[in-house]
Amino acid sequence: MKKRDFLTLKDLSIGELTGLIDRAGQMKEAGPGMTQCPLIGKSVGLLFEKASTRTRVSFETGIYQLGGQSIFLSPRDVQLSRGEPLSDTARVLSRYLSALVVRTYSHGNIELLAREATIPVINALTDLSHPCQILADLMTVKEIRGRLEETVIAYLGDGNNVANSLLIGCAMTRMHLRLACPSGYDPDGDFLREGKRLAASVGGSVQVLRDPAAACAGAHFIYTDVWTSMGQEEEAEKRRRDLKPYQLNARRLAEAAPGARILHCLPAHRGEEITEEMMAHPQSAIFDQAENRLHTQKALMEFLVK
Ligand code: CP
Ligand code: NVA
Repeated sequence: MKKRDFLTLKDLSIGELTGLIDRAGQMKEAGPGMTQCPLIGKSVGLLFEKASTRTRVSFETGIYQLGGQSIFLSPRDVQLSRGEPLSDTARVLSRYLSALVVRTYSHGNIELLAREATIPVINALTDLSHPCQILADLMTVKEIRGRLEETVIAYLGDGNNVANSLLIGCAMTRMHLRLACPSGYDPDGDFLREGKRLAASVGGSVQVLRDPAAACAGAHFIYTDVWTSMGQEEEAEKRRRDLKPYQLNARRLAEAAPGARILHCLPAHRGEEITEEMMAHPQSAIFDQAENRLHTQKALMEFLVK
């Protein structure tokens, strides 16, 4: 049987995506006990070129809870740092491991690894996308609203990797995404075209707006992410200036639907993209989102790792 990768949400059918969200709910309810051990006797590698708290710990914990072993591979410690090609690394790791979870800068690198590896490769964030985050976000929305379809999400700020994946995830599940960002901070053109095309065929919508108030009006969820992603540190000052009108704050929450919930994929920069008040607000679902990384990734690994 041909191995399956998870480089983008589109590697799943709509039915598979919603099935994974439901399965993650069952796993959350069942708790951490190792009653289901699809990874028993198997090792999963984590090749992480960038820092991570949630993704690393939720994958390592999830692998353990599924009965497997995780091996964290910092590129500094493996022979990649001394020039061994990615293609050889992918082939060699495929002889030991049952899956490879990769966090890297270039999306091209993860595509190359996936082409060369004979085991599933899972995207744990690239400069272009962060599909594992969106699995947890969709699960969180479903827990709160009981369904995904017809949910209105406003995303404020940078059209970054999280925004790119969010617009595909929303489009696949018949949600309405209003993404508000300044000119020059739009999501990736290919992702946006694909999101709009998918939304039109499934029945939801994806819009890019310049006005954050219009994006938030009546929204069920307001979501933001950092203004300066990993690797963009030199642009931090300009980004703070340009993105200031897109902060998630009490004014934006007041424009949303009554009882609207607040989302952030974390890590957060209080006083930049979100205020302390919103982080600590009773309508925040931010830490549930973080927890749901564990459950959705367990469901993903159960599905992919044979
Ligand atoms: N949200 C997220 O991916 O967090 P980490 O960078 O800590 O993994
Ligand atoms: N957009 C952020 C997400 C971190 C989880 C980054 O790439 O740094």
